[in-house]
Amino acid sequence: MTTPFPIYLDCDTGIDDALALAYLLAAPAADVKGIGTVSGNVSAAVGARNTLDLLELAGSAHIPVALGAHHPLAGSFGGGAPWVHGENGIGEVYLAPAEASLAGESAAEILVRLARLYPGTLRVVAIGPLTNIAEALRLEPALPSLVDTVTVMGGAALAPGNITPVAEANIHNDPEAAALVLAADWDVTLVPLDVTMASVLEEDHRQALLASSAPVPRALGEMLGYYFRFYEGIYGRPCSAMHDPLAAALAVGAVTPAVAPVVRAAVDTSDGPGRGQTICDMRGLYAGYPPVRGARCRVVLTLEEDFAPHLVETLLDHHAGAESTTAVLAEAGTAV
Ligand code: BDR
Ligand code: CA
Repeated sequence: MTTPFPIYLDCDTGIDDALALAYLLAAPAADVKGIGTVSGNVSAAVGARNTLDLLELAGSAHIPVALGAHHPLAGSFGGGAPWVHGENGIGEVYLAPAEASLAGESAAEILVRLARLYPGTLRVVAIGPLTNIAEALRLEPALPSLVDTVTVMGGAALAPGNITPVAEANIHNDPEAAALVLAADWDVTLVPLDVTMASVLEEDHRQALLASSAPVPRALGEMLGYYFRFYEGIYGRPCSAMHDPLAAALAVGAVTPAVAPVVRAAVDTSDGPGRGQTICDMRGLYAGYPPVRGARCRVVLTLEEDFAPHLVETLLDHHAGAESTTAVLAEAGTAV
């Protein structure tokens, strides 16, 4: 087996963030070295609590979790998205509080430290607003030359937004940070709504997770019940998009993009109706996406294969084999 990629995960945990984290813990190609949290779906502090609790449930409490930015670079944290992820961010599922505590460094600091520790090999997976990544770029301007790849769940290239007609949540929550990240001296893989809204987890997948005897898949299955109720209003059936786990799988090369042009991309930081839009230059569409000189943003539009079976299999195979922890999982206060 080849050496797994060292991973820094930046997240706003979040139901689909929880799926992404569990996926990265399970994926043979990934070795999660550190995690930073940022305000988005919930506050950075609540996201950190969820992350610590999930790690403990998964038997991975050794992975350091660092608290990241509470506020975006400009303005204030808007309070999260409880109607999508629940008040506690994980669909009102209650996990046993982890014994581990937060790392004594910030998310930006841990990212910089890991980039120096694994020069040229660290893979950055950003599945929340990009505040911590922008702060890390300020902290260490050489960061782009230190990391291997940067994969961002965010944006909408040809598809509509999910917060405004043109803006996706992660980018809209901190457009200034996203603009800095896309303008930095590195290649970025953008995993936008174009592909994540077309990658759907269905009720039978959720039932397969719930039927597991292992605590992590069952916890995810319970969380997804909440997420499915939100997405039922969009898809017309209980199911959900798979934003963050898809970005995680693309970051470790476990799924193959079909159409993924490398284009120029910028972020609208104006105060007008375009604020938070990822302006991807998709004009190559009309000519089959010929190479664009100086373009550095690979925009994943479609996949070679359906992602859901791979996600569910990976979660079940790995976590079902893991030792059960003593953590108690309960939904609405009732142990299951
Ligand atoms: C993104 O926003 C968050 O709500 C999700 O966790 C995902 O990262 C989707 O727009
Ligand atoms: Ca997220």
